[in-house]
Amino acid sequence: MVTLSVSLQMRILWTLVMGTLFVLLVQYQTSSVWPQQQAQMNSRVDPFAEDLVAIALSKVEIGDDTTVSKEMLLGITRQIARYVVYSSGCSVSPISGPPPITLYIITPTYRRPEQVADLTRMAQTLMLVRDIHWLVIEDAKSKSPQLNALLQSFGIKFTHLIAPMPSRYKNTRGAKPKGVANRNRALNWIRENANEGVAYFADDDNTYDVRLFNEIRDTQRVSMWPVGLCTKTGLSTPIVRNGSLIGFYDGWIANRKFPVDMAGFAFSVNFLKKRPHAKMPYKPGYEEDGFLRSLSPFEPREIELKADNCTKILVWHTQTKKNEPSLKVNVEKYNNTNILELKKIIV
Ligand code: UGA
Ligand code: MN
Repeated sequence: MVTLSVSLQMRILWTLVMGTLFVLLVQYQTSSVWPQQQAQMNSRVDPFAEDLVAIALSKVEIGDDTTVSKEMLLGITRQIARYVVYSSGCSVSPISGPPPITLYIITPTYRRPEQVADLTRMAQTLMLVRDIHWLVIEDAKSKSPQLNALLQSFGIKFTHLIAPMPSRYKNTRGAKPKGVANRNRALNWIRENANEGVAYFADDDNTYDVRLFNEIRDTQRVSMWPVGLCTKTGLSTPIVRNGSLIGFYDGWIANRKFPVDMAGFAFSVNFLKKRPHAKMPYKPGYEEDGFLRSLSPFEPREIELKADNCTKILVWHTQTKKNEPSLKVNVEKYNNTNILELKKIIV
């Protein structure tokens, strides 16, 4: 959460935000697009407005320097606008309720032709979710300024970290332990920086239903749910009978105690912090199982079942088609044209 120092600048900021909010609400209420929601909103403008500002502020990074910048105001306004649009079409995020629980979304990423496209799609899902902190961990030796600028542009609260895959794995011909160094880096960041909340390993190329995030927010220890498009069974999920877990359905069980997909579970920060040695092994295919085993003491019967007792699919293990790196551009031929600018974006 942001810490706000009481100062004249904050008062100015507050006035500006309330002014912006007022303009937004007036525009919203006088538009004829959503008559039903307008009727609903007329009866709850005050708490709604308060919530919008709180949500917007929680998503915008405000450092110690409380100078009110145009960018900051723009960020806050954008978040308010998003939330107005979102809550008009969907009732997933509660307007009011218990104090927010932060979701730490752990996303490994690496440079490749599809990276910007995948991250853009993912970010624009996360923009619809409140109280998140996106940990984006690059498999690289140094932070890419382009990636940092891209992450900034989304207006989501994020932390950009790096964790290169150790070279002995990178140079292997066989299966690589993808995203492991990245996720272990994030686990340590959480241990050092977070007090409570819920963490989730969300790869950059999956497809997330926005409802998933609020579903997993109340995870006490470890929660699980189905993942679509996984292995030859088409899905990976806990098997539930009469409301209880009786096993796991997955195309590849392979002696795993927890035969689940990376996208199919979340864990509480508190629970993790009580297990200082928990980490993910560099063992392709066994990353999930190895990590969940390292959370010992923890047994399958303790799993909290989500997505209506595992009857809904709220996340899909999609994979973006691999693309060849693009051809070099003839700098002389395209000098002083947009091509050189565009070439900086693509790989
Ligand atoms: C599956 C699992 O869902 C992954 O969680 C698991 O790490 C991986 O297999 C594995 O064990 O090999 P898959 O879709 O095949 O995932 O893998 P990717 O999506 O290519 O990679 C998983 C994550 O690691 C992605 O977020 C990706 O951006 C990142 N990654 C991948 C790296 O950071 N470095 C790499 O060299 C490759
Ligand atoms: Mn993937």
